[in-house]
Amino acid sequence: MTTHTTTVTQTEAPPSFFDSATYIPPDAIFALTAEYNTDTSPNKVNLGQGTYRDENGQPWVLPSVQKSREILLTQGLNHEYLPILGLQSFRDNATLMALGPDLYEKVQSRLSTCQALSGTGSLHTAGLLLRSCHSPPPKIYIPSPTWSNHHQVFSSLGFPCESFTYYDSSHKDLNIESYISALKTATPGSVVILHACAHNPTGCDPTKQQWIQLGQIIKERGLFPLFDAAYLGFNSGNVDDDAFAIRYFVGELGLEVAVCLSFAKNMGLYGERTGCLFLVTRSKETAVNAQSTLEMLQRSEVSNPPAYGAKIAATILSSRELKDLWYKDLETMSGRIRAMRVALYNSLNDYGAPGNWDHLVRQSGMFGFLGLEPDVVLKLKEEYHIYMAGNSRVSIAGLNETNVEYVARSIAECLKGY
Ligand code: LMR
Repeated sequence: MTTHTTTVTQTEAPPSFFDSATYIPPDAIFALTAEYNTDTSPNKVNLGQGTYRDENGQPWVLPSVQKSREILLTQGLNHEYLPILGLQSFRDNATLMALGPDLYEKVQSRLSTCQALSGTGSLHTAGLLLRSCHSPPPKIYIPSPTWSNHHQVFSSLGFPCESFTYYDSSHKDLNIESYISALKTATPGSVVILHACAHNPTGCDPTKQQWIQLGQIIKERGLFPLFDAAYLGFNSGNVDDDAFAIRYFVGELGLEVAVCLSFAKNMGLYGERTGCLFLVTRSKETAVNAQSTLEMLQRSEVSNPPAYGAKIAATILSSRELKDLWYKDLETMSGRIRAMRVALYNSLNDYGAPGNWDHLVRQSGMFGFLGLEPDVVLKLKEEYHIYMAGNSRVSIAGLNETNVEYVARSIAECLKGY
């Protein structure tokens, strides 16, 4: 009997520690890029993932970044660890860039800063900090629609997330009424995710007047503004314009804020994971304490952040000459995107694509939110080899003089039901 039992135990596979892991489908936007990469059609067009492409459809290393790399090489690059909180000159200059010199000077003693793994890492680190300061974790209000990763970042940290209607799909515009009503009924002490500019995916931002109104309600209701600022300078071509909401909330309303900066888009440092989380807090003491908590959280998670991108960005931001070059790069990228937006709009109208396309030129930033049905999005991919996000968001930077007419003509054909 005993022998029999032993034999059975040896031949049966023991249960896995991961038996309860459920299958999660691949991330939609990264899966779309992978699908595009394996498509052999000469006509293929990638309007999926938000990555800048030049007029030849190629990745673009910004001239300011190129110059910064050369400087770093002549200085002799090593591969030593950065401090846990990251490169000090990067943290300082990134925060200075977002706040502008006057406001930066005014709040400098109340700042906590921490280098992070691009926009996602900054949001995640902000979540870790908020969770360590509040038990149970506060509710997070997230606009709908939003960037595909927002819910995942915060729900995976245990935050209760609630969506509010941001977009009016019938008028294809920001739904300011529902936005205001969501804020007016939000639970005090909750966190609100704000896209600082270039709302992803809709391309619809509040006007300055609307930001002022939203900020005042956030203040009255005792909500905490958490800015996702992934497109500063990339949206309009001007960092100061794109940072309006952040600066208004801090400078005019005197609010505490968290700002998640990414240099993926505005410096093209996608794979270098270059980002910075900063907080403007109520007092010097709070800032010191919060920063020490950030340091502990960072140590427990990534130990210390990656160096190369931070060195590239800091070299640009700390040199007058390189910064001017970068400002030109921002104009080049945002200008080309604006021109392609207009070209797509004109071509859609020229080809008689059914419907009104004015929303496309009202929107701004990297994305165009077309408003196509899922079956049209699928047909465009399967029959025309044109790839876009399932919600018909297109990365305008994927368009160029060579493919824009093909894209417009294909959309027109699909909508006419050819
Ligand atoms: C996008 O929205 O396509 C980009 O921000 C890439 C990403 O990480 O989702």
